[in-house]
Amino acid sequence: MLTTSKPTVIDTLDAFKALDLATLAPRREPDKVLMCSPDYFCVIDVKNPYMEGNAGAIDLDKAKAQWELLKATFERLGFPVEVIPGAAGCEDMVFAANQTLPGLDAEDRPYVLLSNMRHPSRQQEVAHYRAWFEAHGYRILELPSADMLLEGQGDALWHPGKKLIWGGHGHRTDRSTYDVVAALLGVPIVALRLVTDKFYHLDTCLSLINETTAMVVPEAFDAEGLAMLHEAFPNLIEIPASEALGCFAGNALALGGRHVIMHPGATQTVSRLRAQGLDVIEVDTSEYMKSGGSVFCLKMMIY
Ligand code: ARG
Repeated sequence: MLTTSKPTVIDTLDAFKALDLATLAPRREPDKVLMCSPDYFCVIDVKNPYMEGNAGAIDLDKAKAQWELLKATFERLGFPVEVIPGAAGCEDMVFAANQTLPGLDAEDRPYVLLSNMRHPSRQQEVAHYRAWFEAHGYRILELPSADMLLEGQGDALWHPGKKLIWGGHGHRTDRSTYDVVAALLGVPIVALRLVTDKFYHLDTCLSLINETTAMVVPEAFDAEGLAMLHEAFPNLIEIPASEALGCFAGNALALGGRHVIMHPGATQTVSRLRAQGLDVIEVDTSEYMKSGGSVFCLKMMIY
């Protein structure tokens, strides 16, 4: 075990209430970003509803320009960006949120848990990320069996500042995988069932901003999941489903607990964020939305 926190999976409000967030081990937030260059990005098959009808529809020059602007935005906010080169034949590798789950052990050393991706075409991406993290001094952790599905930070989100994971399941990640992950990492996991395939990854419908603030698409969760989120985040901002579907507002990325980077056009969500004093930065990700991803999907936070 890497930490001393209680490694249990929680999926009821009663169990969640018994967990005292204040007593959880603190976690240093990552201060760098890993992105994957979009050289081989395209849509080939349909892995999520957004990809329907978009095979061959990516404008690669436009996609590259959008990626560069996102990278420059991270850098401008003071987060240096490392780049892993995209690999031929890995058309979705640019979505750097999915192949791994990086964390810190009890001695504050970085590790990375490798994903077991659902789609065969994405499984080959993981070896490239493994090599990158190995070369950068991370301890590599693997699940004991390849059929335990886990899609990294697409589904497993660290609670801001704490050694606690919010774990989405039902489409890409299996609920049962979290029992193994909790024991392996020694951290409690709050399991959230995703009820519709429009919100196939947790990062399409939940955006954690700081220890008290998060954004959520209520329609994506069951009643128990939503109740646990309300319990955890006194300041839970609702994203209208139309803005989550049309603008990927649920896939916003918060940096430094204050800046929120998101695709433009989610007017209600943006005004709710600004009313809280948060700094909203809009960056166009339209080419990536054709593949079912936006800002959060296009990066991995690293140490
Ligand atoms: N086309 C990719 C897939 O379906 C998109 C992944 C988006 N990533 C994310 N973290 N939601 O797998």
